[in-house]
Amino acid sequence: MKITSTHNFLTPIILSCLFLVQLSLHGQHNPQTSNSNTLTQNSISGDIESKIEAIIKTLTLEEKVAMCHAQSKFSTKGVERLGIPEIWMADGPHGVRAEISWDAWAYAGWTNDSITAFPALTCLAASFNPELSSQYGFSLGEEARYRKKDVLLGPGVNIYRTPLNGRNFEYMGEDPFLASTMVVPYIKGVQKNGVAACVKHYALNNQEHWRDKINVEISNRALHEIYLPAFKASVQEGGVWSIMGAYNKVKGQYSCHNEMLNNILKKDWNFDGVVISDWSGAHTTEESALYGLDLEMGTGTDGLGTTTDDFYSQYYLANPFLERLKNGDFPESIVDDKVRRILRLMFRTNMSANRPLGNVNTKAHHDVARNVATDGIVLLKNKGNFFPIKDDKNLTIAVIGENATRSMTAGGGSSELKPKFEISPLEGIKARYKNATITHAMGYQTGPSVYARVIPPTLNLDSLRTAAIKTAKNADIVLFVGGLNKSHLQDCEGDDRLQFGLPFGQEDLLKDIYKVNKNIGFILVTGNAVEMPWLDKVNALVETWYLGSMSGHAIADVISGDVNPSGKLPFSFPVKLKDNGAHSFGTSSYPGENMIQYYKEDILVGYRWHDTKKIKPLYAFGYGLSYTSFSMSDIKTDKKTYTQEDSITISCAVNNTGLISGSEVIQVYIGKPKSKVKRAIKELKGFQKVSVDSGKQNNVSINIHVKSLTFYDETISDWNLEKGDYIVYVGNASDNIYKKIKISIK
Ligand code: BGC
Repeated sequence: MKITSTHNFLTPIILSCLFLVQLSLHGQHNPQTSNSNTLTQNSISGDIESKIEAIIKTLTLEEKVAMCHAQSKFSTKGVERLGIPEIWMADGPHGVRAEISWDAWAYAGWTNDSITAFPALTCLAASFNPELSSQYGFSLGEEARYRKKDVLLGPGVNIYRTPLNGRNFEYMGEDPFLASTMVVPYIKGVQKNGVAACVKHYALNNQEHWRDKINVEISNRALHEIYLPAFKASVQEGGVWSIMGAYNKVKGQYSCHNEMLNNILKKDWNFDGVVISDWSGAHTTEESALYGLDLEMGTGTDGLGTTTDDFYSQYYLANPFLERLKNGDFPESIVDDKVRRILRLMFRTNMSANRPLGNVNTKAHHDVARNVATDGIVLLKNKGNFFPIKDDKNLTIAVIGENATRSMTAGGGSSELKPKFEISPLEGIKARYKNATITHAMGYQTGPSVYARVIPPTLNLDSLRTAAIKTAKNADIVLFVGGLNKSHLQDCEGDDRLQFGLPFGQEDLLKDIYKVNKNIGFILVTGNAVEMPWLDKVNALVETWYLGSMSGHAIADVISGDVNPSGKLPFSFPVKLKDNGAHSFGTSSYPGENMIQYYKEDILVGYRWHDTKKIKPLYAFGYGLSYTSFSMSDIKTDKKTYTQEDSITISCAVNNTGLISGSEVIQVYIGKPKSKVKRAIKELKGFQKVSVDSGKQNNVSINIHVKSLTFYDETISDWNLEKGDYIVYVGNASDNIYKKIKISIK
């Protein structure tokens, strides 16, 4: 195998190339370069692709291989002699994670790495507001840029399949159209800063339990219709620069080096960016080399040799790869393709001459965090207009529950953050309510959030409970701030929840409180659905997710009525776990048996399952209340019959029939009765959030391309449009349809 010789003389040229991409290059003539086989200035000028090819020609095989794997926990080597920089990465997806040590998972202890914590992606999805997603991505990208990160490890778009998945809070819900629509502006926003987004985890990492071993067996139809669309949109509409593989196996092959990377991502979708392994997601040199992985990260926690001096050189895509390239087991084109992609990412990020400088913790970022938070909070129940609560000096509000004061940016796994500040719900409520008396009791306590371990509480739980009941008894209103938290076996990476109900004795506490005070509003802080046998004990219920830095202010904004809630659920809340599609099939479907699981519910995920099987959810996908009321009128399609080239335009008037202004999300679902294939009753195909002043009307118009009605036809391994009649459902929740319209596709 030929190894390209070192060209030290090229350093200045490459440097210019790297940092003055937009400028023409004027290096000094070097007599040593003057033969036809060596690189000249001209051959590295031109567009980025030509520059990349020119650089590849100058790299030694060793240098190429060194670019394909980590040199530390979160960075990769550059090529010093050519001035090619290192690549630095940081976790997202809700903020830029604090600096991690070079070789260990421990934090590095920097004092200048605190950031803005943005709301969890479930909240962003619940906003149904793509414009806010763009602002979120842009602000986060600015923070990543300021922190000198080239790749932000997020967003996550794994589909919400089971409410037990510990990482659902990092994703965008159960619907592929919603996730696709929301992820694209986020990616574009991040990347405007010259920071690559890294969409994760491709694919089917829909549970944490056994995530590093489980083999997912799934139909190609469900794969393409449910689990891949958000990745596809990230590539084709978002133009994402990197994708992270998943830990699990898909159809017998580890996802980080899987046929799906070459065949679907790179070939069918033309992804030209970098496939990055999840940390320790690579398992063999052969497959890492051949099945689509470009950059191996995080290996070394599986016995590969963290104790040896330079264990990074033992990565699958390090020395073992080099040896096999030298032996001629793999053609050099294999490593060239990886390096080409990595260099392309670098020209887009750390070798781009015109990327902005970024900034961190600005007021603008805090405002975006607060706006996303208030836009995504979902009001689920509001008996007797419990909310909004006026700030009245004669009012005593008892704020009860550990989540009123607990940090929710600590814990959770790799999405853990070190925000400059985090306003707790209690602080936010106290800041907003200046006249009312705010009392507080913890009610229960849990241990600190530590990765992969449950730490027991230290306080006396009986005393906490007694104090809470007393506090509740003496108040006019109880705000119970509970739910889950970011500890192991809750909303946390590394494993799944063990129970669908509320943990930590909250149900019992709530019942005891109810005995002394029936005026209870529940502020549910979770990233997941929970079972609610206690629902009739509370007058009001608001899902506030994990909201980051501005958490308490955003919660106070909504419960005080400063902001009228307009969030809608991005996933269904089943009454009981068995009502969920994945769980209805028992352990072979979730969590799997003998490390294999079958996605038996197939395409019927989330509301598709509830609708089609006629299993009423507790709260449906797309559901969410407002402090005002809306009606829809004049709901129509522009035509009755369409061809496959057409767009369907659905229009309606949204009337605010209440006393205050607010926003409503118009949702358009389409279904195909009498289909020749299995179908969900209906699928979300369009939505629009519209704000309407009290007593006013706003017109909404939603375009849906007929092509989006195709199904994935396994008999031709391609998308297929079935002609005939379809039903368009227009409503404000998947279970609240105002009008059905029959259309036909010719
Ligand atoms: C997670 C990824 C994360 C990576 C680096 C992994 O355990 O699954 O989402 O980006 O660690 O922290």
